[in-house]
Amino acid sequence: MFRSHTCGELRISDVNKQVTLAGWVQRSRKMGGMTFIDLRDRYGITQLVFNEEVDAALCENANRLGREFVIQITGTVNERFSKNANIPTGDIEIIVSELNVLNAALTPPFTIEDNTDGGDDIRMKYRYLDLRRPSVRRNLELRHRMTIEVRRYLDSQGFIEVETPVLVGSTPEGARDFVVPSRMNPGQFYALPQSPQTLKQLLMVSGFDRYFQIAKCFRDEDLRADRQPEFTQIDCEMSFVEQDDIINLFEGMTKYLFKEIRGVELEGQFQRMAWADAMKYYGSDKPDLRFGMKFVELMDILKGHGFSVFDSAEYIGGICAEGAAHYTRKQLDALTEFVKRPQIGAKGMVYARVEEDGNVKSSVDKFYTQEVLQQVKEAFGAQPGDLILILSGDDTMKTRKQLCELRLEMGSQLGLRDKNTFACLWVVDFPMFEWSEQENRLMAMHHPFTHPKDEDIDLLDTDPAAVRADAYDMVINGVEVGGGSIRIHDPKLQAKMFEILGFTPEKAEEQFGFLMNAFKYGAPPHGGLAYGLDRWVSLFAGLDSIRDCIAFPKNNSGRDVMLDAPAALDPSQLDELNLIVDIKE
Ligand code: AMO
Repeated sequence: MFRSHTCGELRISDVNKQVTLAGWVQRSRKMGGMTFIDLRDRYGITQLVFNEEVDAALCENANRLGREFVIQITGTVNERFSKNANIPTGDIEIIVSELNVLNAALTPPFTIEDNTDGGDDIRMKYRYLDLRRPSVRRNLELRHRMTIEVRRYLDSQGFIEVETPVLVGSTPEGARDFVVPSRMNPGQFYALPQSPQTLKQLLMVSGFDRYFQIAKCFRDEDLRADRQPEFTQIDCEMSFVEQDDIINLFEGMTKYLFKEIRGVELEGQFQRMAWADAMKYYGSDKPDLRFGMKFVELMDILKGHGFSVFDSAEYIGGICAEGAAHYTRKQLDALTEFVKRPQIGAKGMVYARVEEDGNVKSSVDKFYTQEVLQQVKEAFGAQPGDLILILSGDDTMKTRKQLCELRLEMGSQLGLRDKNTFACLWVVDFPMFEWSEQENRLMAMHHPFTHPKDEDIDLLDTDPAAVRADAYDMVINGVEVGGGSIRIHDPKLQAKMFEILGFTPEKAEEQFGFLMNAFKYGAPPHGGLAYGLDRWVSLFAGLDSIRDCIAFPKNNSGRDVMLDAPAALDPSQLDELNLIVDIKE
């Protein structure tokens, strides 16, 4: 037997047992004639003891072990004299009688501990060592448990898991594709799927009325903390359902996951908010509802009093931070600088404090009478001790987004965004289309297969921009953890949608003919949703970036620094693929 126990297993009840362990040397301490080694494996750490007086040669061998050497030992479990309450094996130690060095190791470039001294770049280059750190390992264990529970839940609800191909065709809508040249079809390319969207719809035509897949998706888009070029979806589709059926089922799954994984019971139905309200009151389609500070529009109250910034604004709105009137001038200046940062782009910020006597003192007192400022206070229902922050601008949407950033910043500063509090929300009634300045045309906000709301179908001809969709996102703590829609199953409506999106019938046929044809053979009404697995795991683990729950992630430039990918191809490989590389300046 290579090992009788793991390094996380032995307890006081095992004292006097003869055991064999294997693992990595975490650290070694020499104290007088004794040598203590912390032996680590995936399961924990066990202290080994070597006594010079008992076996000098063995102790000498132990003293030669370096960090991260791989060893196997045999010995007897002993009750520790000074116990370590911080680890589960802290009551015992192993008096070693045999030591077998399985492999030497170079000194690792950073310490293999939760509080490592290694920076981001070096940890990514040596990710296999980084993964030895318990905090990173725990994230992968959590991810594993998530997928197990997801499969268990969906199986219990009659879903079957079907794998769809990774080499597919390029689709023009959405993000940029990653493409793969075909050797056997010179000059032609596969694309890696941005999601299995069209394939899962085809499975509905095939009659698999409840499908799911834990699917790798690929999108060549700019990266952020919650975006990787290669990520995983829990992708689902159902037939013979309406929006509420899907929402209810996946709300059930969310509650199940919270209970099984986090031990959190989520009570009652999740809040639902129309997209238009989310934008109006929070300036975002993924509002963080762990705290209030709902926007209040102040156009009627503040316009027309001679303050030119507000008088010329298309939007004036603000938030009220409860109990934050103690903010100093310095803190308020810092907030002003925050909203003026180029990424946010506000021109300035106005503040108003509600003082203890109920009077309002603002940074624009010279333009507004106390009477007007009292109206502002009432609009928020503000109380003495509260702080009102106001932004304005000549573009309503942009200004709301700036106010959203300010709200989130205030939420963080006031400690209202606790990682162990969860606010779940469905954002519904998304617009069907959004205008693309770049393309100078309407684009599908979700994707071109999304069903418009029945009551808005007439508007497709007259005012397409006003059409709302049967589309929904699940948002938790300001993170879009999933999204989906009811799909179009009528080929005529689908053809119309392509027309509005600027496809000629030929182009639609070329790109999506396979789907539209399939719909002619009896497509059931269907809809679905996809969760972002990486975002779920990082939410449950309280991580700031999804990178930390991915075994081998890419960095912000889309590189895998460990594998050194992407990389140039060998000329012979290019030749075989009929490719010539011509890098533009
Ligand atoms: P969507 O594009 O909204 O929908 O994606 C679904 C969910 O996937 C996650 N996600 C990402 N996670 C990490 N990195 C990324 N680059 C990334 N992009 C998306 C998000 C998101 O909510 N086919 C549709 C789903 C459907 O309609 O059924 C789709 O892909 O959590």
